[in-house]
Amino acid sequence: RPRVLSGIQPTADSFHLGNYLGAVRNWVAMQETHDAFYCVVDLHAITAGHDPVVLRQRTRVAAAQLLAVGLDPERCTLFVQSQVPEHAQLAWVLSCITGFGEASRMTQFKDKSAKQGADRSSVGLFTYPILQAADILLYQADAVPVGEDQRQHLELTRDLAQRFNTLFGATFTVPAPYIVRDTAKIVDLQDPSAKMSKSASSPAGLIELLDDPARSAKKIRSAVTDTGREVTFDQAAKPGVSNLLTIYAALTARSIDELVEAYEGKGYGDLKKDLAAVVTEFVTPIQERTRAYLDDPAQLDKLLAIGAEKARAVASTTLAAAYDRIGFLPAA
Ligand code: TYM
Repeated sequence: RPRVLSGIQPTADSFHLGNYLGAVRNWVAMQETHDAFYCVVDLHAITAGHDPVVLRQRTRVAAAQLLAVGLDPERCTLFVQSQVPEHAQLAWVLSCITGFGEASRMTQFKDKSAKQGADRSSVGLFTYPILQAADILLYQADAVPVGEDQRQHLELTRDLAQRFNTLFGATFTVPAPYIVRDTAKIVDLQDPSAKMSKSASSPAGLIELLDDPARSAKKIRSAVTDTGREVTFDQAAKPGVSNLLTIYAALTARSIDELVEAYEGKGYGDLKKDLAAVVTEFVTPIQERTRAYLDDPAQLDKLLAIGAEKARAVASTTLAAAYDRIGFLPAA
């Protein structure tokens, strides 16, 4: 079976629909076809300042949500990044073959450091994509299911794998991004020119899986729509309505064409009202299951410890091979 790895940051109280539709939904599907490794990337979550108590809670909430949307520990390896020390170890090695200029060109770093101010940005924020490359290469992943915003980080990962292999001998699988075009960029409900983002979107622009469905319904009803009143799919001319149709189609397995036909002669109001009901129906059982996992944190932690152990078996083999190729002495 081909190998897959992906990760998600525990940097919010809930995942949003962009995370779910752009990435996590594909993680669930790929459990059936791939040897799958999924991690909650808590090391990445400390690159821009954090509160320890909140981080610990969000890490558990993230894991609980992943289980609630359908990851099955019998069919995939679910773990927390910091519990597998090889991630930080390989990141160091990769950072030594990454150019300073190359890392400086990462657009997510440029955006975030511009917003925070260069003096207030951490070195960890700068080396973030190198740690991400380590996450992927440690598992010899063939495919990495992510949203469009991760494409450049995946390019860097491929470059680093190839560079290491050329310098020191074939060690890493060169991974391919797995980006499903239709849902690769869910946009902000209030600003359809921007992606839905836990750090950048206003609360009204985000639909969160764990938010009160009545609040989500309200956000959908007040989503920015476009001029005209006909429900048609046109991402350039009608990005707001097209985004609602994308979400609707993905959550119901109805095609966009089918939906456009169904809303012929109706207005945006009907579309929004129905989508609000679809979202409510979708998130309600997820919220119940998430709560059930969080009600027993000892059991959840145990599950994650088992995942970390399975992950370490793979990660330590790859790290040992990389250390050997680099020329480090064998460990005692
Ligand atoms: P993160 O935590 O920001 O987001 C998790 C996943 O959600 C996707 N995503 C979206 N997809 C579609 N539309 C959106 N509006 C949207 N917003 C977010 C992201 O593309 C991502 O797939 N750097 C990664 C975490 C990471 C990782 C990894 C990913 C660390 N190590 C190794 C893959 C492999 C990140 O910040 O994701």
